[in-house]
Amino acid sequence: MIEVRDVSKSFVSDERVLKHISTEFHSGKINQIIGQSGSGKTVLLKCIVGLHIPDSGDILYDGRSFTAMTKKEKMQLCSEIGMLFQGSALFDSLTILENVMFPMKMFSDKNDKEQQSRARFCLERVGLNDVFDMYPSELSGGMQKRAAIARAISLNPKYLFCDEPNSGLDPLSAIKIDELIVELTKEFQMTTIINTHDLNSVLSVGEQIVFIHKGEKAWEGPKEKLFVSNCSELNDFIFASEMFQKFRTNLVSEQAGHS
Ligand SMILES: Nc1ncnc2c1ncn2[C@@H]1O[C@H](COP(=O)(O)OP(=O)(O)O)[C@@H](O)[C@H]1O
Ligand SMILES: [Mg+2]
Repeated sequence: MIEVRDVSKSFVSDERVLKHISTEFHSGKINQIIGQSGSGKTVLLKCIVGLHIPDSGDILYDGRSFTAMTKKEKMQLCSEIGMLFQGSALFDSLTILENVMFPMKMFSDKNDKEQQSRARFCLERVGLNDVFDMYPSELSGGMQKRAAIARAISLNPKYLFCDEPNSGLDPLSAIKIDELIVELTKEFQMTTIINTHDLNSVLSVGEQIVFIHKGEKAWEGPKEKLFVSNCSELNDFIFASEMFQKFRTNLVSEQAGHS
């Protein structure tokens, strides 16, 4: 479990980008952070991973306080984290196999042979059997995402962070990437956090949702409650399109009929 406790963050001379965010993310669950572009999702995820240092507040990894950690403990934590960056962020000049081996070179004491064997296993696990010696530019967008997922799970992480994992993909590839993340989360009981502004993704794989609006947590709850909340900012976000407005009208009248 990851606990975010009263985290605030600003950048030089700017107003605060994150304002007193507190929430919890549970293991074995697809936790999603949703919100409009610019609402603070990436900054929050980077604060959680330690790529941004919050101005105040703390992050607890299964009870371990990030701010209280020594350098050595932070290195240990890094080896427990898998990160899928926005875009695939593969290294162009490394082969796919070398890309997947990279975190192990940085954060594990596996030798070269062990790293190769683990990298092969991870690539096979995400359905990439024949691309070990290819370079990222030779793969389709969906395959690059799979390779990036293989790299993210190479250290067998407890915590998996994905920033807009299916952006830029066609709808079918997007769903497949989401489903792969779900499978891996359940299989390895990871605490998975996905940033997304894609409602399809929320509807198909989301379980526990945190909605960020202008740097504040405006709503949180299970996906099932998303469509019947009283949070006006959330409703504006979800029901921005006409199609979803009709969906909501039907849902509300159906519920009125049942009560
Ligand atoms: N390194 C930075 N320096 C200054 N402002 C930043 C930085 N990173 C993000 N921001 C600002 O923080 C806000 C939230 O950004 P971000 O978390 O990337 O939004 P989202 O991921 O929800 O689209 C934006 O207004 C953005 O301009
Ligand atoms: Mg973002």
